Amino acid sequence: MSSKIRAAITGVNGWVPEYKLTNQELERMVDTNDEWIRTRTGIKERRILKGERKGTSEIVVNSIKGLLEKTNTDPNDVELLILATVTPDMVFPDTANTACDLLGMKNAFAYDINAACSGFIFALATGAKFIQSGMYKKVIVAGADKMSSIVDYTDRATCVIFGDGGGAVLLEPTESGHGIIDEIFKGDGSGRQYLHMKAGGSLKPPSHASIDAREHFVFQDGRPVFKAAVKGMTSTVEQLLKRNGLNKEDINWLIPHQANQRIINSVASILDFPVERVPVNIHKYGNTTGGTIPLCLWEWEEKFNKGDNIILTAFGGGFTWGSIYLKWAY
Ligand code: UT7
Repeated sequence: MSSKIRAAITGVNGWVPEYKLTNQELERMVDTNDEWIRTRTGIKERRILKGERKGTSEIVVNSIKGLLEKTNTDPNDVELLILATVTPDMVFPDTANTACDLLGMKNAFAYDINAACSGFIFALATGAKFIQSGMYKKVIVAGADKMSSIVDYTDRATCVIFGDGGGAVLLEPTESGHGIIDEIFKGDGSGRQYLHMKAGGSLKPPSHASIDAREHFVFQDGRPVFKAAVKGMTSTVEQLLKRNGLNKEDINWLIPHQANQRIINSVASILDFPVERVPVNIHKYGNTTGGTIPLCLWEWEEKFNKGDNIILTAFGGGFTWGSIYLKWAY
C-alpha cells in the first residue's frame, strides 16, 4: 500500500455526433476511393457535427453530461476542467469555460490546452498534477475536436482522415497505488512545417486573401509526420517501460492515438506488442485529434479490470508526443 497521492481515472465518457461521413460519400466529393482510404489509413467512416452554431463545446458538454451522470457527480463539486482541443468554439475565450457555464459547473475554473493530437495526454498529466498536489479532489480532463471545421473538403490528402468527437475522464485522488504513475513527454517545434494551419493566428490574421488561398484549413505533409509518429510513440513507450521496470507482458492495454491504422500497426509491431491488446476504433471515427484516446478509453472501459496496467501514447502537430503509464482504478 503506497501512501503517495495519485490521480485515478474514476469514470470516462465519450460522445460522437450522429452523422456518418462514409468513404463512399467522400468518393463523390474528391478524387479518392474507398480502397485507398481503407488500405492507407484503416478508416471506413468518420462522424461529422452538423447544424448551425454547434462547435466543439457541443462535444465537450455531451461527453461531460454523461460523465457526471455515470459517476454520480454533482456539477458543483467539479473544481477544474482542462480541455485539449485545436478547434475551440472561438479563439478566445477558452471552450472549457464555455462548457462549464453550459454544464452548470459553477465552482470550476477551466482552460484549454493546445498540443494537437497529444493534447489529451498532456492535459491528463496536467490535471493529475493538481490532484497529486493534494489541493484538488475532482478534476475533469476532456479531449474533443470538431475537425470538420478546419478540414478542406477539396483536399483529398487530409479530408479523408479527420472526424469529430471526443470524451472526458474524471480524476480523483487515491492512495491505493492505482492511477497515473508516470509520463514521458517530448516536443520538437521544428515539426510545425509539416502540420499546421497557415492563417487565422496572430502571424497571419484572417483576410480575404487568406480565405481565397484556403489557408484556414489543416495543412499536412503526411509522410514525415507518419515516420516521426511511429518513432516518437515507440521510443517513449520503450523508455516508460524501462524506467518503471516493466516489460511488454506486464502491460494489459496499449492505447495509441488513432491517426492511421498503419501507424498503430507499426508501433505494435516494433514493440512486438499483441494487437489484441491495442484498442482501435479509427475505422469508425477517423482521427478526432484530442478526442481519440478518451474515445478509446470509453469504448474499452467495460474490458478493463481494476489494476490493469495501461499505456497511453500519442503523437501530434507541434510536433508533440509522449506516453503515460497508469493503473486502472475500477
Ligand atoms: O494525428 C497526428 C498526426 N498525423 C498523422 O499521424 C498522419 C500521418 N500521415 C499519414 O497517416 C499518411 O501519410 C497519410 C494517410 C496522410 C497519407 O498516406 P501516405 O501513404 O503517406 O500517402 P502519400 O501522401 O505518400 O501519397 C501517396 C499517393 C500520392 O499519389 P502519387 O504522388 O503517388 O501519385 C497521393 O497524391 O496517394 C495519393 N493520395 C490519395 N489517393 C487517393 C493522397 N491522398 C489520397 C486519397 N485518395 N485520399
